[in-house]
Amino acid sequence: MTDRQKLRLGLFGYGVVGQGLHDVLNSSCGFKAEIVRICVKDPTKPRRLPMKHFTFNRFDILDDDSINLVVELINDPDAAYEIVTEAMRRGKNVVSANKTMIANHFKELVDLQWKHNVSFLYEASAGASIPIIRNLEEYYDNELLHSLRGILNGSTNYILTRMFNENMPFSQALDEAIKLGFAEKDPSLDVDGLDAKYKLCIITGHAYGMFMNPEEVFHYGIRNISTFDIRYAKEKGLKIKLVPYVGKVNANTITSYVLPRFISTDKYLYNVDYEYNGVITEAAFADKQFFSGKGAGGHATGSAVLSDISALSYGYRYEYKKYQQAMVKNYTRDHRIEIYFRYKNDSDRDLLSFEEISEQFSGRSCKYVIGIVNLKRLYEIREMLSSMDIFIINTGRKDIN
Ligand code: HSE
Repeated sequence: MTDRQKLRLGLFGYGVVGQGLHDVLNSSCGFKAEIVRICVKDPTKPRRLPMKHFTFNRFDILDDDSINLVVELINDPDAAYEIVTEAMRRGKNVVSANKTMIANHFKELVDLQWKHNVSFLYEASAGASIPIIRNLEEYYDNELLHSLRGILNGSTNYILTRMFNENMPFSQALDEAIKLGFAEKDPSLDVDGLDAKYKLCIITGHAYGMFMNPEEVFHYGIRNISTFDIRYAKEKGLKIKLVPYVGKVNANTITSYVLPRFISTDKYLYNVDYEYNGVITEAAFADKQFFSGKGAGGHATGSAVLSDISALSYGYRYEYKKYQQAMVKNYTRDHRIEIYFRYKNDSDRDLLSFEEISEQFSGRSCKYVIGIVNLKRLYEIREMLSSMDIFIINTGRKDIN
């Protein structure tokens, strides 16, 4: 058995996830790691631990040579970037849950850990309690992964569930998600699909070895969902979920996007409700697999952070196997998807440049079209989409290369 390294932790952030980690660490029987210091921003905020455990100066942790692991659980992605990169430069291993920061500096952070020979783990950054990154690294290392899709944002899934089950208005459901500590400090990251996109980009790095610039990936959230869309889905026996997708279009090319999607009762994601997340992988040999678990919340996220800390004590590091294999070389948005497009003004009808139309409806208050749209077109008009009184849903029936 490998000897476990004794870990002395410097923790950044003591919010929902930081406190969640603390609880999880305290209740863990098999594994003990000592939290030497906790660095927080706000000196006036009441804390549930005596003040002697806290510092407001990041260098009290970064300069302390006895601290061999930095755990970064703060909200601010820019400050997180400074802390994480400085910690690695100083030879400290790092665990982080900051998907915004990781997705926006992915390749650079990978290079930095190689350069300084440290380990940088971030299982909690995508799917919280679902161990998807380590599965992609270890189980799928040699698998031909056709696609991966799922629910990666707990807040939007929580909102959609409350809207569907109780006809709760969007804003009230969002307030609940904020109160429960699921939403980001800026909840538009959740609602507009950016959080899901950042997670998708991290997953893409491990699933296909491609470190995407998030700007290159189309995302569309649930901000503009209406009671009409919900009624339409219910009448057809469907639910609406926010579903990021990444998949191969040929042996060395992938595509990806984040879109709301209709889910029928026979699909795995149908029963993934509230803050739960779910991930479906489709691979050549393992075939279809489904992972599900809590995707937000202090303890669920803390459990993934604990798992990284424990893995680090055995010297675990990601090898980025798919990147090393370099099988996937191209990214394309030339990909056709069947879309439900709800709109109000006739002038908006041709906005998506439908290639084929299979269904249309024109009522007094709302109209919709269902047909094939190219992802390239959605990407072109992405800026205007979120401000218009329209809604777009992937029917899930056809993804055509
Ligand atoms: N705001 C995120 C979510 C938190 O709702 O999924 C977990 O990453």
